[in-house]
Amino acid sequence: MAVFKAAFLADIHYFSPTLGTKGRAYELRSGSDQKCLAESGAVFDAAAKRLCDSDVDCVCIAGDVTNDGERASHDEMLAKLNALNEKKPVYVITSTHDWCSDGRARRYEGNETFWDVPSYSAEDLPGLYDHFGKDAELARFTTSKGFASRVFRLSDDLRLIAVNDDCDGEGGKSGYSEAHLAWMKEQLRQAKADGAYMIAMEHHLLLPGIGKLINGGQMIANGEAVAAELADAGLRLMFVGHSHMMRTTEIVSPAGNKLTQVNLGSLTGYPAPILYLTVEGGKAELRTDFLDGFDYEGKHYGADFFKTHTADVLYNLLNAAAADKEDLRERLGADGIKIPKYDTLYPVIRKAAKKALTIKVGAAGRLLNTLTLGKGADKRDIKAVKDDLLLPHIIDDFLNVFDGSYLARTQKEEVKRITVSVGHCASKVVDGLPIGKAKKEKIRRTTDQIGAIAQELMYPSGPDNKDCTVAL
Ligand SMILES: [Fe+2]
Ligand SMILES: [Fe+2]
Repeated sequence: MAVFKAAFLADIHYFSPTLGTKGRAYELRSGSDQKCLAESGAVFDAAAKRLCDSDVDCVCIAGDVTNDGERASHDEMLAKLNALNEKKPVYVITSTHDWCSDGRARRYEGNETFWDVPSYSAEDLPGLYDHFGKDAELARFTTSKGFASRVFRLSDDLRLIAVNDDCDGEGGKSGYSEAHLAWMKEQLRQAKADGAYMIAMEHHLLLPGIGKLINGGQMIANGEAVAAELADAGLRLMFVGHSHMMRTTEIVSPAGNKLTQVNLGSLTGYPAPILYLTVEGGKAELRTDFLDGFDYEGKHYGADFFKTHTADVLYNLLNAAAADKEDLRERLGADGIKIPKYDTLYPVIRKAAKKALTIKVGAAGRLLNTLTLGKGADKRDIKAVKDDLLLPHIIDDFLNVFDGSYLARTQKEEVKRITVSVGHCASKVVDGLPIGKAKKEKIRRTTDQIGAIAQELMYPSGPDNKDCTVAL
């Protein structure tokens, strides 16, 4: 029986060095973002080398190839993809970040940010990326925006449907028009009739992943209904990107058909995942590796670089808040945040930041239990880790959002239980409020989600987010 091996990457967000990766303006930008933009070329090169040296049969890329659709980023990334395509066939979809849908393309020079960066438009993109997979193309659908969704023949019995969901859904949201969805279902029917399995790739999420509170806005229009329709049409496995969060989620349609969504993380942000898919006789094995390092400007960086960069998004803000009023103002400004009456409020912000940097779990737990009349967390759990600094645990939880809770496996059980209790705390407090039942239920619809997310982060419920098996 033929074995087919594919590697999947997502959200490379390649950023051309010609757009400025040095100086204060760039550092403020980089320091507020999980993605490692300056290093994105070196990171991709390291991943491409690893894939060229491996036994994978192809490389699939699930969108956001460039950072914000900059011409220079596309042109340089195309050269890298063309080189990779010489060794391993590349199947790639672009997504909204590739055509600057929100006009965000920027360049940096010293202390200044410029918004005058030439970008490619939606009309330019299909022509630039159409040659990837050309020889293996079996069918195509052109969306209202002019993007192509395509079916590729990967092997005698395996096909990939790589769909572009940009602005094609209800109300201009990401998703699928009726005709687009009908075409997808017809392709699934055709594959089955031809005795081939089909796997799929789109950029935005079909299913809410970690929870609607965090991922709801990242889904395609009517995502769960579309997922059920695709499951009923025979699709079992969909790869998505966009959230930058590794998470594998299942849905069973009302008719009883299961679809697994694999949300890939960003290659150029923590934890820099590369997903390997092995298909043999209708059994799909998924195994995620993390990039273990890359060379940049004559220096080698290990996997910890990604973790530190992401953790620093929080540390940078808190350190600035605790020490330097102007530094914090600039950092917030770089993110478009302007606090009213900042000068008056800063002493309070500084005090809170200093506390956040130094408070221990014991003191934080006592404070929380006092404020919530004992509804915060178990006293014995708090006592067991009372001398731990609180902030590193919060950072670990933050990193777990991105790595599919891989790090949670090494966290102390007491810490995990406290995290879950704190997550449920808001709902417990709402229960005790002297308000009407209807109002209580309305608030709980949000607070219950916080509890569910904390639970999911510490004790993931679905298939293993790193390694799992799916029947096609
Ligand atoms: Fe992205
Ligand atoms: Fe995206």
